[in-house]
Amino acid sequence: MKGRNIPFGKFFSLLVLAGVLILAVGKPSVADEGYDEDTYGPAKPIVWTKPVKAVVFQHKIHTMGAGLECNSCHDGIFQMEAGNAESKDDFNMQSLYKGNYCGACHDGSMAFASNTRCTSCHIGVQGYNKMMGVTAKHGEGEEGHGGGH
Ligand code: HEC
Ligand code: HEC
Ligand code: HEC
Repeated sequence: MKGRNIPFGKFFSLLVLAGVLILAVGKPSVADEGYDEDTYGPAKPIVWTKPVKAVVFQHKIHTMGAGLECNSCHDGIFQMEAGNAESKDDFNMQSLYKGNYCGACHDGSMAFASNTRCTSCHIGVQGYNKMMGVTAKHGEGEEGHGGGH
């Protein structure tokens, strides 16, 4: 067996590393402030209310989580403008099943299929209200689906 002396240089760098780790862990709320919108896209979830209330999309899950690049979606599937897709008449399930919008990936091979796990995307009216209560409201006007024909 060789000697068990740890060379001083190595010991020293371990010491420095440990110090850095302690500092890093000591910083408050690394989780939230560490999220970089330039790298991963907007932190705030995007929520659509048309035609049904409500469907949610989170950049974080797709970029930070699934490792997708911005142009996986922003090269034709979606505009960088919340609410754009919602203004199109074909933003519906038929269209997803045909491979448009979310359906470009949510087809059962690249990601879970659009005709499964409805509630992963659909948060419903209750989910919508809850989310709007929690996240800062950004002045998305009320949709005014209201009756009154
Ligand atoms: C998996 C698909 C997907 C990926 C990947 C993605 N985005 Fe998006 N992004 C969307 C969708 C969906 C919207 C909303 C479009 C709509 O409502 O029509 C959006 C909207 C946006 C908006 C507009 C937000 C607003 O409030 O108007 C910005 C900015 C944006 N994305 C930036 C990025 C950046 C930067 C990246 C890469 C780091 C990225 N996106 C990656 C799907 C994606
Ligand atoms: C460019 C491909 C792509 C597009 C477009 C895309 N997704 Fe995804 N999505 C993924 C991948 C990959 C995952 C992670 C793998 C999985 O969960 O099947 C994911 C995961 C998700 C999850 C997480 C499910 C969970 O509970 O873990 C939700 C919710 C979701 N996507 C919703 C949407 C919605 C809504 C749209 C359309 C507005 C959309 N996605 C568009 C690729 C995409
Ligand atoms: C990958 C995400 C995703 C999944 C999974 C998903 N949907 Fe949707 N759904 C959407 C989006 C996006 C829209 C359009 C935006 C809106 O209506 O707010 C939509 C719209 C709808 C609509 C109104 C438009 C139409 O096609 O009639 C119904 C109804 C609906 N979904 C039912 C379902 C049911 C039932 C399931 C499960 C079998 C399901 N969705 C699964 C994303 C999804």
